[in-house]
Amino acid sequence: MCKGLCVYPGSFDPVTLGHVDLIERAAKLFPNLVVAVLNNPDKHNMFTVEQRMNMLSRACAHLTNVTIDSFGGLLVDYMRSANAEIVLRGLRAVTDFENEFQMAQVNRQIAPGIETLFMMTSPDYAYISSSAVRQIAMFGGDISTLVPPCIIEEIHRVFK
Ligand code: PNS
Repeated sequence: MCKGLCVYPGSFDPVTLGHVDLIERAAKLFPNLVVAVLNNPDKHNMFTVEQRMNMLSRACAHLTNVTIDSFGGLLVDYMRSANAEIVLRGLRAVTDFENEFQMAQVNRQIAPGIETLFMMTSPDYAYISSSAVRQIAMFGGDISTLVPPCIIEEIHRVFK
């Protein structure tokens, strides 16, 4: 078990089975894990920050050491205010790497005390993305193998 508070930040627009898989695995490694939803008014998200947090809360209800929060502005500022030192990010494939590498290096540059840890997404979920979920749902497709069962209805409701 690692010491310190770990934060898993992201857009979660919406949370997918890939995210939940990562959260479940990280919750076994850290005493406390905060899943932090980016609240960025400039970015057009399909779901409001409240909806995204609500979906995450339901998808993680079985995990007692996981808390859902939101943040605006710089991730490192949120990390400092939460007294957290570890940023967790998932890597699905090499295509994720460049972006993630840059983000981790920039965060290290501006906040040297904060470490970014990467976990590989399980192969079963490596192809899932929130944008694929949004596209499939928009056209009324089946998203049951992509997102937690407890949020399927809510996603379809938004596209009705
Ligand atoms: O799920 P996402 O969209 O890949 O998550 C990206 C996120 C929210 C982790 C990233 O965009 C972020 O941390 N944004 C906050 C702004 C910031 O700190 N930027 C500096 C790092 S480049």
